[in-house]
Amino acid sequence: MRHLLDTTDLSLEEIDEMISLANDIIENKEKYAHICSGKKLATLFFEPSTRTRLSFEAAMYELGGNVLGFSDAGSSSASKGESVEDTVTMVSCYADIIAMRHPLEGAPRVASFRSSVPIINAGDGGHSHPTQTLTDLFTVYREKGRFDNLTVGLCGDLKFGRTVHSLIKAMCRYNNVKFVLISPKELSVPDYIKTDVLEKSSSSYREVETMEEAMPELDILYMTRIQRERFFSEDEYLKHKDAFILDLSKLENAKEDLTIMHPLPRVNEIATEVDDDPRAKYFEQALNGKYIRMALIKTLLEWGGAL
Ligand code: CP
Repeated sequence: MRHLLDTTDLSLEEIDEMISLANDIIENKEKYAHICSGKKLATLFFEPSTRTRLSFEAAMYELGGNVLGFSDAGSSSASKGESVEDTVTMVSCYADIIAMRHPLEGAPRVASFRSSVPIINAGDGGHSHPTQTLTDLFTVYREKGRFDNLTVGLCGDLKFGRTVHSLIKAMCRYNNVKFVLISPKELSVPDYIKTDVLEKSSSSYREVETMEEAMPELDILYMTRIQRERFFSEDEYLKHKDAFILDLSKLENAKEDLTIMHPLPRVNEIATEVDDDPRAKYFEQALNGKYIRMALIKTLLEWGGAL
């Protein structure tokens, strides 16, 4: 049995296989419509979510399986003080696979020590969001057909943004990826990502404070939200909340085949006028998330011998 706690739990070959499987699911939906018949996915969301939880649930239904769970810690016995370990010990008696989001970094790993079924990290604090990263990799592959030799701009809250940290770790494993890190100094990528991930890879990076100076060279622009919930004070959030707003004027010097991505939800960092630009791929990205999660559920259940 295997869990997915971080994207690096998967080898590059396994990621390739998952992407091929997701593409096959898109092409041949009927072939997969009943493969999880009789299986149950539990979605344990101790933190709010729209895309991740609902795409996991849609994914399991489209595989012919069933779903149970909660979308709010307040409606679970966590509100009475039950530990993550005990919750997961119980839920793994009721379900064949568990997707879990938790505000505490490392909570899904703790859960994995006690679970008798595969645990999928659906986001833990500011640490990691591996299924978003699989979604992002799948989108990059569908748009660019490769992972090597790309210039990737990451813009916004690069300090607390777990999707950014996961994506850097994942893309660093490919050849000649150039990162342009676009953020205010106070929200720059944490030092450990620079020293332990970026500087130990074949990738290069530079840090800038405006979108305009990065735009002409980018193959991918990955926008992120300034996350109110991660700041220690409202004043700090207000200081940064409108630091970057992508609108059509900022795209004037961008490549014709730029791919604009965003894990969503957005607040106002991408003006709605950009939605109709053919380079805007963030809604396709969210849809891709359902297909890659179908591939992940099938793969983890097979690895665990449940399929
Ligand atoms: N991208 C993402 O994780 O969205 P949700 O918070 O809505 O799940």
